[in-house]
Amino acid sequence: MKKVVLAYSGGLDTSVAVAWLREQGYDVVAVAVDVGQPGDLHEAIVRAEQLGAVDARLVDARERYASSFVLPALQANALYQGRYPLVSALSRPLISEILIEVAKETGATAVAHGCTGKGNDQVRFEVSLSALAPEIEVLAPVRDWGMNRDETISYAQERDLPVVTTRKSPYSIDENLWGRSIECGVLEDPWNSPPEDIYELTSSPGDAPEPVDVEIGFDKGIPVSIDGEALGLLNAVESLGKIAGSYGFGRIDMIEDRLVGIKSREVYEAPAALALIAAHQDLENMTLERSVAREKRRLEATWTQLVYEGLWFSPLRTAIDRFIESTSEAVTGDVRVRFAGGSCLPVGRRSPNALYDHGLATYDHEDSFRHSDAEGFIRLWGLPAVQWSKVQGSSGTQGV
Ligand code: ARG
Repeated sequence: MKKVVLAYSGGLDTSVAVAWLREQGYDVVAVAVDVGQPGDLHEAIVRAEQLGAVDARLVDARERYASSFVLPALQANALYQGRYPLVSALSRPLISEILIEVAKETGATAVAHGCTGKGNDQVRFEVSLSALAPEIEVLAPVRDWGMNRDETISYAQERDLPVVTTRKSPYSIDENLWGRSIECGVLEDPWNSPPEDIYELTSSPGDAPEPVDVEIGFDKGIPVSIDGEALGLLNAVESLGKIAGSYGFGRIDMIEDRLVGIKSREVYEAPAALALIAAHQDLENMTLERSVAREKRRLEATWTQLVYEGLWFSPLRTAIDRFIESTSEAVTGDVRVRFAGGSCLPVGRRSPNALYDHGLATYDHEDSFRHSDAEGFIRLWGLPAVQWSKVQGSSGTQGV
């Protein structure tokens, strides 16, 4: 019997996929990967067995996700189109790694994911899976079977499959510890405001309590404490997410350019991600030499696009990560951020590696900057422009 390892979430599609793959003649190993999404995965695993999986496993990958995927994304200040912190894009390569590990362990010759044909996730899975194990076949049952949601439900009912008939949410949700995405339903009209009841991680900004300051400590680019209390990365993300969410901070409503060419309307909540990136970037501005910081901002955009577009397992991503590993050495210190209704703004920063020098910056009597240096510097700095102007006249400079 052929064996397939299925990325199983416990939702309708991947539940039906267990039965569907069996009908195609596969032994199905269902793997649910915990990347910090809500819901009872233990119960989902029991159901996978009832659906006929020969083996069903729950893999708690939260620590691995935090340290090997979320942390590099934070250190890259990764925001696709300047806004979206790559929530779903980050979890796919990790889930792919785990599928391949289980396939090798169980002797499966195929792996399967439950993505449809319109999104980015199918690309991320298939590129990652093939890059990790080109010899293993990749199946996309949900893309192949061509059933819509109602047909999928009928398929399950006809076979009496134990699928969860959750309250019929019109939304498509994906969540992990870096944030939550909400698509479909009324959101498909980009003119509609997102209804308040789609949000789970953030309260309404209008209901926020009095503003509060929170101190985030970083050690070499890793968040290590909140308000002086030492925390592991996973706990730091969780606890900051709760605070930020309670202030209604972290909501994103955007038109997104998908890899497959479609423009889509996407709503996200990523309170921890956006707060940590704001603080991390602020501390970088305090500790990185300016040309390093500028080059890093350029490479960050490349890194983010690579990961969004499914190329986590690529030599360019690895090479940029080596660069960021090097720049992160200096990023130690504290940032004080202020949460108020819907906002999170850095309002203080300090670092043993601060390149900010009060003597150089101040306008008061402690000023140690040699003002007389400026005159000659400016003459040389502007020399090429001034020379051009002398020869071409000022109209040449203005391009008229
Ligand atoms: N548009 C986002 C992305 O491409 C979110 C995708 C959500 N995935 C899902 N299966 N609902 O990263």
